[in-house]
Amino acid sequence: MQIDKHKLTTITTQLIHRHKGILAADESNTSCNKRFAEYNIPGTEENRRRYRELLLVTPHIEKYVSGVILYDETIRQMTLDGELFRDLLKRKGVLIGIKVDLGLEPLEPNSLETKTKGIEDLRSRLFDYKQMNATFTKWRAAFSVSDTLPSEKAIEENCELLARYARVVQETGMVPMVEPEVLLDGNHTIERAKIVTEKVLEKLFQALEKHEVYLGGLILKTSMVVAGSEAEVEASHELVAKHTAEVLKKNVPPHTGGVVFLSGGQNPQYALHNLNEIAALGPYPWQVTFSFSRALQAPALDAWLGEDSNVGKAQELFIERLELNALARQAKLEHGKGYISRHHSAGVRGLFWVLVLFIIILLIVL
Ligand code: G3H
Repeated sequence: MQIDKHKLTTITTQLIHRHKGILAADESNTSCNKRFAEYNIPGTEENRRRYRELLLVTPHIEKYVSGVILYDETIRQMTLDGELFRDLLKRKGVLIGIKVDLGLEPLEPNSLETKTKGIEDLRSRLFDYKQMNATFTKWRAAFSVSDTLPSEKAIEENCELLARYARVVQETGMVPMVEPEVLLDGNHTIERAKIVTEKVLEKLFQALEKHEVYLGGLILKTSMVVAGSEAEVEASHELVAKHTAEVLKKNVPPHTGGVVFLSGGQNPQYALHNLNEIAALGPYPWQVTFSFSRALQAPALDAWLGEDSNVGKAQELFIERLELNALARQAKLEHGKGYISRHHSAGVRGLFWVLVLFIIILLIVL
């Protein structure tokens, strides 16, 4: 089947906006309920709807996000006033994305590793989502890290599935986001994470080539290269940026449509600063930006607690997170926002020396 490259490039260009990122609001019901449970919020369909409404109706999100990834339940839900979320996003000029994988299953019986479900009936499900105005899709594969994992088989099978998925999505006229997530769980070093991420990306782009996926109409959603969540040392932002930039430059072909990051369980500040430093090492052949779920939503969820009276505060924190990340993707975080970017501190240092020089000259003249 033919691919409409022009159409895919147009969507990708709109999605990978220079000043914006993408909100991942596509947690499965199980994942969403798990997060709610930490706050004793009952995991009901109505509570998930209320929470997604809180996020999506937040005024001005369109200033910072070009797209939102939804889950099957959410793309069919509506605001209390009766407007479908997908219509609300369209009205705000935000592109609608949809998670189309059906979660993970064991790679083999008793295996700790996983492969992604949902390839069999993918084409027919895509057709339904297209009718609902979705223009891009997401498929997630997950890779566990240890001294011996991920296995060759896990990399091989998941990359093959990601590539088959991407090809079918492009044939349907939508932009595929491929998400090979290198998991944070474990005590592995940042160096080990780098080796694994490289291996996975290398295999992934080989599989994409084999299935003749048009890279200009594809978005890579990748992990940053960070140490495991139980590692003894948390890597500095500079080191995360250096390793991430090296891996991406080496393994992502220049004509790829764009690169976005998942946050993977990093705390919101750590992910934010890492993004700023990665952006500061650009320019890259493609745009890089955020597509976080937890690192964008956590402060809002902390404030909401399931109470209507907390909606205003939660929305304030949510828009602040979006604004900060939109600045970080341009390497523009500023003093006063809880962080001084390397450029900014260099600027402040420069100003300091000019002042010293001025005082010396003044003293000499006087
Ligand atoms: O699949 C995961 C989401 O798209 C990204 O979520 O930023 O919490 O890792 P995260």
